[in-house]
Amino acid sequence: MGKIVDINKRKVKAIELFCGIGGFRIATDNLGLETVWANDINPLSCQVYKTAFGKSALHEGDIRSLHETIPSHDILTAGFPCQPFSSAGKKQGIRDSRGTLFEEIIRVIRTHSPKWFVLENVKRLISMEHGDHFATILQGLSKLDYFVEWRLLNTTFFGLPQNRERVVLVGTRIENIKSASIALANANDLTNVIRHDLAELKDHFRWRNLGNHRKTFPGWGVCYKGTFYSCDLDTFHESQPGRTLAAVLEENPHSDFFMDKTTRQRIQDSIFVNRLVGGVRILYNQNGGARMGYTVFGIDGVAPTLTASHSRHYERYKVGNRYRRLTNKEYARLQGFPDNHCSDTSIFNQYGLYGNAVPPPLAQWVIGKVLAQKGIPLESIEPVKDTQMVLNL
Ligand SMILES: C[S@@+](CC[C@H](N)C(=O)[O-])C[C@H]1O[C@@H](n2cnc3c(N)ncnc32)[C@H](O)[C@@H]1O
Repeated sequence: MGKIVDINKRKVKAIELFCGIGGFRIATDNLGLETVWANDINPLSCQVYKTAFGKSALHEGDIRSLHETIPSHDILTAGFPCQPFSSAGKKQGIRDSRGTLFEEIIRVIRTHSPKWFVLENVKRLISMEHGDHFATILQGLSKLDYFVEWRLLNTTFFGLPQNRERVVLVGTRIENIKSASIALANANDLTNVIRHDLAELKDHFRWRNLGNHRKTFPGWGVCYKGTFYSCDLDTFHESQPGRTLAAVLEENPHSDFFMDKTTRQRIQDSIFVNRLVGGVRILYNQNGGARMGYTVFGIDGVAPTLTASHSRHYERYKVGNRYRRLTNKEYARLQGFPDNHCSDTSIFNQYGLYGNAVPPPLAQWVIGKVLAQKGIPLESIEPVKDTQMVLNL
């Protein structure tokens, strides 16, 4: 892909908050953007980041003490810490002190007013606390004078054999523009939205008030000045042909990854399930219910969501007639990273680092869509031809 430059022929400048091992950085590099600042508090992530991308942009430490080092930029990306929002976490949401790291994103946007932001988080963000948490996030962002769009995306849409659903939010600064186009949905996606709804979509004064919303948000929506319009989009029209887990497996993994004996013993106490759930082949399940550590997966489906959780690293997969866990390289492939991206760190640590990351192909699709709005600079935004896609604000 060619370099994306603005009207003055300079590269679009990006910053990456909570950069981890650089899932967003791979995407912005591939799109020809220049990353001028990145930050993470975890020394292991920073080590990987430096090896992969050099150390010039990286600022290691707590973001709360590094705001003065942030330069001006055009686009901000952030996969903000997901423990408080994740179903595997403590479910305390924004009341958990870690949740307030979202406030750091608000602080940076308020100070620097980038043209765009792209945020990523777990699917549960739209449902936790009966939608209250997500409403708070949308309120916070839309108060900053951004047109915000969100969408649930699955890594399987981008050719990665992993069932990983994530919500992404993109914001476009609305100052100086008369219309904002939708980036993450296209006309085909919206065909199931009835005519009446489409009329509402174009008239933001009839959108619903965020303050009154007390339930799970649908998988797609737009938000502007405290009001929103949303619906569930059933299809994703740009899906790449699906691959199965078998397509990314290493041929001869080290014997350390095999667990034949203990697994055979466990299978004796398990139920043969043999069902596809969300594209994941579940072969055996202890008592038909418990999952962590006891499930045995097949390889003719996709992998379940990889996480930073240790128990997930030891889940068993039946490959041929043997049982093993996934290798670190297979984790990299399922997340869309190069095989050796984390090779600076121990195999044990690699699982958590990959499991926490944003898959670069997903991030690249989103950022590509945002930039393809031709909002560079915003003053020159051309309304897209399809009127369904343009909101007159
Ligand atoms: C969900 S992960 C983001 C992963 C990243 N998008 C990637 O592709 O690897 C959240 C990151 O936030 C970092 N983090 C947590 N608290 C932080 C803080 N106070 N300051 C800076 N980074 C922090 C964690 O170390 C973790 O890497």
